[in-house]
Amino acid sequence: MIPVIREQNMLSATIFRMLLALTIHHTLTADVPPTGVAPETSSPPASPATPGPPERGSYNVTNSSDAVCLLARMGLQLNISFISSPYDKTVQEVLNVHPNLVKSSGSCDPDSATLMLTEDNITLTFSFSLNSTSNKYHLSGLELSAAFPDVAKRLVFRNTSLNYMVGTLGHSYMCQKEKTLSVTQDFSLNTFQLQVQPFGVSGDFGAAEECDLDEDDMLIPIIVGAALAVLVLIVILAYLIGRKRSHAGYQTI
Ligand SMILES: *[C@@H]1O[C@H](CO)[C@@H](O)[C@H](O)[C@H]1NC(C)=O
Ligand SMILES: *[C@@H]1O[C@H](CO)[C@@H](O)[C@H](O)[C@H]1NC(C)=O
Ligand SMILES: *[C@@H]1O[C@H](CO)[C@@H](O)[C@H](O)[C@H]1NC(C)=O
Ligand SMILES: *[C@@H]1O[C@H](CO)[C@@H](O)[C@H](O)[C@H]1NC(C)=O
Ligand SMILES: *[C@@H]1O[C@H](CO)[C@@H](O)[C@H](O)[C@H]1NC(C)=O
Ligand SMILES: *[C@@H]1O[C@H](CO)[C@@H](O)[C@H](O)[C@H]1NC(C)=O
Repeated sequence: MIPVIREQNMLSATIFRMLLALTIHHTLTADVPPTGVAPETSSPPASPATPGPPERGSYNVTNSSDAVCLLARMGLQLNISFISSPYDKTVQEVLNVHPNLVKSSGSCDPDSATLMLTEDNITLTFSFSLNSTSNKYHLSGLELSAAFPDVAKRLVFRNTSLNYMVGTLGHSYMCQKEKTLSVTQDFSLNTFQLQVQPFGVSGDFGAAEECDLDEDDMLIPIIVGAALAVLVLIVILAYLIGRKRSHAGYQTI
């Protein structure tokens, strides 16, 4: 009985789909304008679709004695808003950085380090600072300079008073999850699978200090573990109390 009903349902579904496809096809073909006639309206282009997650790149800076002094591994996505001149319209552009097209450079000084990434007409500069009293470093500045064909002037977004990627000298800073770094009102940087070490590099990344987002991930297992420990304690206590009581009971008899 059941298989027959299923078959009937499938058959009617197939017929329905075929009818639907035919109807859509008919509507579409009826709407196609005669070939050779260009559409008259020219509306401004819609903001392009958001690209998928960016590819992870590996960027190194070497010092004057050819030793690696800054290490970075990360996927980068730029989120820029600017006014496109042909239409005088604000455009929100989300661009992925392509590691294979990037030229990287930089410099390392005792208490500051920079990483400069250039792809086509876009240059992104990271500035790191080290506090030699506290032995803590952080990302203190980000600058994006970009030239787009539909923008007259070169766009520059800069903030030199940031406080991101705080780490301890000799350690690397790691953030596996996507993180949005707000730079200016019109520019933010999305980072993916990030690990950086701007100071105290000896060959490879030092022990990683995870960002708070990754630490949040650890919070749930910690809570579950603590709850389990409390539960076990209660069971043990209940058992001990129960044993004591029954023991006392035997004694009175
Ligand atoms: C950067 O350095 C790391 C570790 O020293 C190395 O594995 C990697 O290949 C280097 N990447 C580049 C692009 O030089
Ligand atoms: C370059 O970096 C290496 C490793 O961190 C360090 O030992 C060396 O002194 C640095 N050289 C200069 C000129 O800063
Ligand atoms: C880009 O920035 C805009 C404005 O801040 C925000 O609404 C949008 O979600 C961002 N997009 C991405 C992919 O980060
Ligand atoms: C780079 O900028 C110049 C001048 O604004 C422009 O003519 C050129 O098309 C741009 N190149 C790319 C790849 O965007
Ligand atoms: C460096 O760290 C010390 C101790 O935390 C702090 O008192 C000092 O203001 C910091 N210096 C800078 C330039 O941030
Ligand atoms: C730079 O970043 C700081 C901290 O995020 C913020 O308070 C400040 O408004 C930013 N400056 C500019 C020019 O956007």
